Order: sequence, then C-alpha cells, then structure tokens
Amino acid sequence: MKKRTKINIFSENPIDNFVLEDLYGNEKILKNNTNVSIDLSWQLLIITNPDVREITIDGCQLGKFINTGYYENNKFKIWIHPNIGYMISTLMDQIDLGDLNSKLYEKYLFTVDRPIDIGREFPVHIQGFFAHGSGPKWWNKEKRPIPYIVIDDPEIKEMMDKIEVLEKHLDTEADLSGKKNQTLQYNDQWRAEGWKMESYSNATEKEFNADSFSGFGKHFQKLGFKKLYQVYTAYLGPLGYINLHTDGNKFRKKENAGNTRLYCSYSNTDAVYFKMLGVGLLPMNTPILIDAGRFLHSVVNLSKTNTRKSLVVTGIF
Ligand SMILES: [Fe+2]
Repeated sequence: MKKRTKINIFSENPIDNFVLEDLYGNEKILKNNTNVSIDLSWQLLIITNPDVREITIDGCQLGKFINTGYYENNKFKIWIHPNIGYMISTLMDQIDLGDLNSKLYEKYLFTVDRPIDIGREFPVHIQGFFAHGSGPKWWNKEKRPIPYIVIDDPEIKEMMDKIEVLEKHLDTEADLSGKKNQTLQYNDQWRAEGWKMESYSNATEKEFNADSFSGFGKHFQKLGFKKLYQVYTAYLGPLGYINLHTDGNKFRKKENAGNTRLYCSYSNTDAVYFKMLGVGLLPMNTPILIDAGRFLHSVVNLSKTNTRKSLVVTGIF
C-alpha cells in the first residue's frame, strides 16, 4: 500500500533531493518538499548534506526524534515511516525521551528486521518467516528482554582462536550422555534436519572451575557463568535448517531466563542466517549472548556444500 506523503528536510544549504531505501535495499531518489507516493512501511532516508536541522513529514516536525538519525560515510541516515503517527508512537514506545541525544546508540542496541529471500529449498513457513521484515527497533541495553548482547571482551574473542582445543576435549573427554549425533525432534511433524550436536557435555546443571573443559572454564567464568547446563558445538549441514522455536522447557525458561546462551559461529558462517522474530538477523561474526528462550528463532544454512559450526554454552549467571 502506498501513501501520498510530503517530506521536507531543512538544512543550512537547500536540499533538492534525498534517497529513500526500502527494507529490501531498493533505493529511489525523491524531490524535497514535494508530494510523493511512498510505500506505507519503514524507509531509510539518506541525505548527502550532513547538516540537517529538521525534517517534517506531512507538516509534522520530528523535533528531538531527529536524534534517531546517525551519520555513516559522511551521510545522514534516519529511519522514517510515512505514517508519522505510527513512527513517533513506535519511537516513544522503544526509546525513553531523555535518551534522544547523541548517546542514543551507546545506550541502545539497534536492529533492523529486513525481508530476506532464502530460496525455495526450505519449507514454505521458514521461507515466509525470513521473507517478513518488521523494520528498525531500538532496545534499551539496561532493560529486558533484549535479543542479544555483543561480547566485546578481547579475551573471549581470543578464546575462539583456540576452539580446536575445546573441540578435541568435547570429542574425547566430554560426558556425551548418549547425545552424540542426536537429531532434535521438536514435534511429530518437524525436525531440524541437517542439524546435529557433534559434541555434548553433561546436559544437567554442572559445577565447573577455571580448568574445566581443557581450560575453557576460565573463559566461561569470565563471561559470568556460575553453573553450566551445556557446552557443545552444533553443526548445521548444507541446506540444513533449524525450525521455528524458542529454547528450553517451562522450567529452563524460568531458571535460565535472559541472555544466558553464548553463541559463537566459527566456521562457514557466510551463508548462515540466524533470524529472531521482530529482530532480524543476528551478527555471526562476533560472540553474542542471546535470549533464545524469549525470542522465537530459526536458522538456515544456504550453502549447498559447507557445514556451519558454532559453539554454544548455556548455564546460569
Ligand atoms: Fe534455539
């Protein structure tokens, strides 16, 4: 659905044109201060003139909401919606008004849920889940729930350089509890085909110390884990997928609530999409602590040849 909308950008130097990029990444150039027909969905407004003072949409000023805009490659970018009432109420719902300043993106995790075409190799409901994108969202890092927390700690990043040591430990010393190469079955109809837990530790609450897991225990302690449920490497084979689900049963969801799942993809991650509902794709190039019990998710491996590997650690903080 489209809507006639007039966007007016005020700047020190007059603005003739601006770019609107839709959630698919398609760009079009529009004339400033002119009635134009715009898709009734979130759009990234891009202005090459970095000195933007104010923007009005159908005559309504953005005012301090202009602080949701940011500079990238010397361009000013701001997510807008042609329904200004929907846009402002959404921003008010997600951002404390006092945080609408230059520190906004330090205090908030910013995600953009975009529609993604994963091809026809996957069940239609997985295709549809990825094909829908709800747009931008701001997550206050001090509030919960939050879909994921990026781990900046260089020690944890270095930990992944030694992942072979942990792989060997899990292959030779871990208590597999009959779980090796298990296929997860979520219900009678759907299976996580292509997914296997190559290695598995004890799937119960487990005391550990700095020396546990061939010395990886100290990294898990540094992350804040007090007890561990699981330490495993998950392999997602070519064209494999993990069906729509949230993690954990009723008990685990309560005891293990929040961002208590360390997720580090470390091999063949290029063609792997991990999407959370209302969040979009998770970053695969950094260790993250995800709230997999709260946010519905699905993972697909679009590669026809490569198997994705990731380290997963769950426990209590
Ligand atoms: Fe999961």
